[in-house]
Amino acid sequence: MLELEKNNLTREIEEFAGNYNNNRTALMPLLEYIQGKYHHIPDFAQQEVARVLDIHPVEVYGVVSFYSFLNEKPKGRNIVRLCKSVICDMGGRCAIAKAIEREIGVKFGETSPDLKVTLEFTNCLGMCDQGPAMIVNDRVYTKLDPETACAIVREIK
Ligand code: FES
Repeated sequence: MLELEKNNLTREIEEFAGNYNNNRTALMPLLEYIQGKYHHIPDFAQQEVARVLDIHPVEVYGVVSFYSFLNEKPKGRNIVRLCKSVICDMGGRCAIAKAIEREIGVKFGETSPDLKVTLEFTNCLGMCDQGPAMIVNDRVYTKLDPETACAIVREIK
């Protein structure tokens, strides 16, 4: 991260936290803001959030690493999350995953080099009666097979 970018990020964090009187209740909204704008929360930002809110950096890291929608490293602009839990697994998750990997050109757990797409497995999405299921960004898709899954991800690649 360049020095200018760091300075801008520091200013943004200070302004955002100022709206909460630098209270620790700003932690989640602030992390969501950084994630939304920068698509990840780099180490530097975590340190600055801790400094501005006067909390330990480990606490910030703990929150970032706990929530799957907060990322330490840059992810794709589109995130495909395919359910890996037992019902979807038995419904053909592996074949769907392989088809998506072929379509996008990266493996699950990876991000495409152009940062367009990240593929991830996720735990149960609560759609077990309609599995196999996946979420693409905020939209849920159910009753997938390899062909329908490929048609869906083709739209975002
Ligand atoms: S097991 Fe896949 S949605 Fe529940």
